[in-house]
Amino acid sequence: MGDTNVLETTEAQIAVHWQEEDYYYPSPKFIGQANVTDPAIYERFSLDKFPECFTEYAEMLTWYKYWDTVLDTSDAPCWKWFKGGKINASYNCIDRHLKDNKNKTAIHFVPELEEERIDHITYQELYVRVNEFAALLRDFAGLKRGDRVTIHMPMSAELPITMLACARLGVIHSVVFGGFSASACADRIVDSKSRVLISMDAYYRSGKLLNHKINADEAVALAAKDGQVVDKVLVWQRYPGKSSTETPMADGRDYFVNDVVKKYYGARVEPEQMLSEEPLFLMYTSGTTGKPKGAQHGTGGYLAYVTAMSKYIQDIHPTDVYWCMADIGWITGHSFIVYGPLALCASTVIYEGVPTYPDAGRSWRIAQALDVNIFHTAPTAIRALRKIGPNEPAKYNYHFKHMTTVGEPIEPEVWKWYESAVGKGEAIIVDTWWQTETGGFLCSTVPAIKPMKPGSAGPGVPGIHPIIYDEDGNEITQPGIAGNICIQNPWPGQMQTIWGDRDRFVKTYFARYCKNPESKDWRDWPYIAGDAATRSADGYYRILGRIDDVINVSGHRLGTKEIESAALVVQEVAEAAVVPVAHEIKGKEPDLYIALKPGIQATDELAQKISDAICNQIGKIAKPRKVWIVPDMPKTRSGKIMRRVLGAISNKGDVGNVMTLANPEVVETIKTLVQKS
Ligand code: PRX
Repeated sequence: MGDTNVLETTEAQIAVHWQEEDYYYPSPKFIGQANVTDPAIYERFSLDKFPECFTEYAEMLTWYKYWDTVLDTSDAPCWKWFKGGKINASYNCIDRHLKDNKNKTAIHFVPELEEERIDHITYQELYVRVNEFAALLRDFAGLKRGDRVTIHMPMSAELPITMLACARLGVIHSVVFGGFSASACADRIVDSKSRVLISMDAYYRSGKLLNHKINADEAVALAAKDGQVVDKVLVWQRYPGKSSTETPMADGRDYFVNDVVKKYYGARVEPEQMLSEEPLFLMYTSGTTGKPKGAQHGTGGYLAYVTAMSKYIQDIHPTDVYWCMADIGWITGHSFIVYGPLALCASTVIYEGVPTYPDAGRSWRIAQALDVNIFHTAPTAIRALRKIGPNEPAKYNYHFKHMTTVGEPIEPEVWKWYESAVGKGEAIIVDTWWQTETGGFLCSTVPAIKPMKPGSAGPGVPGIHPIIYDEDGNEITQPGIAGNICIQNPWPGQMQTIWGDRDRFVKTYFARYCKNPESKDWRDWPYIAGDAATRSADGYYRILGRIDDVINVSGHRLGTKEIESAALVVQEVAEAAVVPVAHEIKGKEPDLYIALKPGIQATDELAQKISDAICNQIGKIAKPRKVWIVPDMPKTRSGKIMRRVLGAISNKGDVGNVMTLANPEVVETIKTLVQKS
């Protein structure tokens, strides 16, 4: 992350520093049933037990063959976990549960329309459907171990069925968030070189049936322009047996899965015995440059880690009904809707729509109807539910034992409402800090062992040893002083590399604090997360936000460079700069500053055109709060745009001393423009 030095406006810089809060303790009832209660777990996972300690996680899985080496560091820092082991993720999430639990619900699928029935899919049914679809992928689509497939699907039971069918064959899945645009999907098809795209015809969002097939057509056309030909588009039907899209099916390219799969009814596919280090999936995420990077996750290490985190931190038992509200198109959904809960034989809830449709009570009706007892969501959703229905949870008869918050810092006030209103004072809360790259949690309390502290994630989870460095690589040990949070040791859930770009992987996550680039010793390779954090005297970490060009909007990670390059596609635009602005519900929002090419007039239509260009290229989640067309960007004498100044203006803060700028007078003009409206 060498280029973080040159940035002036980051989330961390505009973070609010909250005061330390009092502890909340887990109830005896919770402790009485918890999966881990012995504090000795922290000793078992101390650094001197590394890496052997992690076999405890791997032992939670069923292996075809045990590993020879726990951690192979020969290609540092591309670590290989459980080297020599053979395993299949689909087998671990399905087949191994059939003997005792085949009639238990694996997936509750909740359609957005309340008048539609909830679908309860048993482990046996999941087994049947995954096998049939795997047979289709192999025999009809011609996919085999190591191939990549792009999946652009909404929240549906068919999404995990698709992922698990890929995993069964050793096909590497790359799921693109359903709300991303066709263009974002195309970029991922091209980068992963997928020749098969799996989609769905339509889905409900806020009561409307949206045509999704149209995105597949556009994505395939855009990918072809970039040289990647998709020869098969497999389209699931929202209503099996009937098409819900007006977009035509291209002859010889597009197929409705629900038709083709009939040929494979009853088919069974032997799971591939994957090497532990073979990739399971790619998950693209935003970074410091315009191009999203494909975080590559391995099979054995990743699955061991998410299973252990689901058991120890999420406290999932096979008898639990677990609802994580995230979208499966993000890492949270991969790890904590699909792989972790299913590996533990829990029942996992998949909800199609928005949590507040048709009203603020919807989420709690779902919890009541399904007897959900573990609940997992992001601060953005909590803030929204609190704002529109602060008294709704009390009206419904559900009881959570455990709740998670993930994805953004949570304000202590919001945390307290979550605890008292949503949790009814009965549920413990874990604030889990982690990332797409990390596969599973980095910091969180172990719920029955450590007390909760609103606004703080907690210490490193067992096996994770965080450290905070200053800009020069010195450890910051004083409580409350912010620095760059790093992890001293590798762990099994860590991404293996950036798909097709090992150099970028090394540069982004290790170069800054690497002690010796030639070293094969893991101690020389601390992982830099890209967040600023403080540690308090009790060892709890508080995450302040990103130190790089990434903005966290409603828990969705967006690159400012990605948004800027989308704006620059509009031909009237000369320069674009994005800064994060604090927002009551979303946490942060992007504000977009634009300077036009000479002779071009600023108009509302042009601002709209730029905003639309961003939605088209990335998705609605990246829509700027406002497009500010300014006469000129504030610049240093060397011509660098001063985002710090723009950020201060957007956040109504102090712009500081601007007299050293090349054009200080423009600052007042921009300030008047922004702060007047
Ligand atoms: O800035 C941190 C923030 O989200 C970033 C990771 O985003 P993503 O890869 O999309 O993964 C989101 C789901 C894990 C982090 O770098 N973040 C994540 N969890 C927390 C958080 N910030 C504060 N507190 C958290 N619990």
